[in-house]
Amino acid sequence: MNHESSNPKRTAAEKAVEYIQDGMTVGLGTGSTAYWAIQQIGKRVLSGLQIKAVATSVQSENLAKELGIPLIPFSELEEIDVTIDGADEVDGAWNLVKGGGGALLREKIIASSSKQLIVVVDESKVVDQLGKFHLPVEVVKFGYELTRNKLSALGCEPKLRMMDQQPFTTDNGNYILDCDFKQIKSPSECHDAINHIPGVVDNGLFIKMATRVIVGYQDGSVEELKL
Ligand code: A5P
Repeated sequence: MNHESSNPKRTAAEKAVEYIQDGMTVGLGTGSTAYWAIQQIGKRVLSGLQIKAVATSVQSENLAKELGIPLIPFSELEEIDVTIDGADEVDGAWNLVKGGGGALLREKIIASSSKQLIVVVDESKVVDQLGKFHLPVEVVKFGYELTRNKLSALGCEPKLRMMDQQPFTTDNGNYILDCDFKQIKSPSECHDAINHIPGVVDNGLFIKMATRVIVGYQDGSVEELKL
């Protein structure tokens, strides 16, 4: 993670935190951009901001605990006011590829129950067409080789994600297959086709879920994209 004092991810994340107000329930994203949002939320909580939060990963939950951000159990929660999260790619229709950090399933569960999903990225993530970044697909461990074959038949090259020479395991106990599609011409059709494969838990395409996209630039500026 890049934790320099000033960088585009941080600028975008801090801008997004301005949308958080007293009384809100907030979804905490995952990754090196969401990290800065959580840090900024922690600062505002220290200064008296009254919120409750839910986290999209064990990593973000631990960070929130360290910073004193109050976490709420899902049993006490119906809807989330705003979630701030990063992305690996954002296209012109605000469709996203997510899951580079392996948290796509929890991120999607939380995003789908959020009134607002604010996506925070640096300029390198904004693309004309999704697909250059290998699409993460979360699959159950059982028979994942068969699931991988079915994914290949959709026209991609799936690779089992590894970490420390072992298959990477998500917070939910599943594997990730990173699928190289080169280009994803119809994100919505691709999303549905993948999720119809038995063994797939979910994939990293977030179709029309983002309600704001905030981009940080190398020159220090920050921009809210317009649809
Ligand atoms: C986590 O699984 C991902 O969805 C991240 O939100 C995404 O990979 C962006 O990560 P960075 O902010 O670290 O680039």
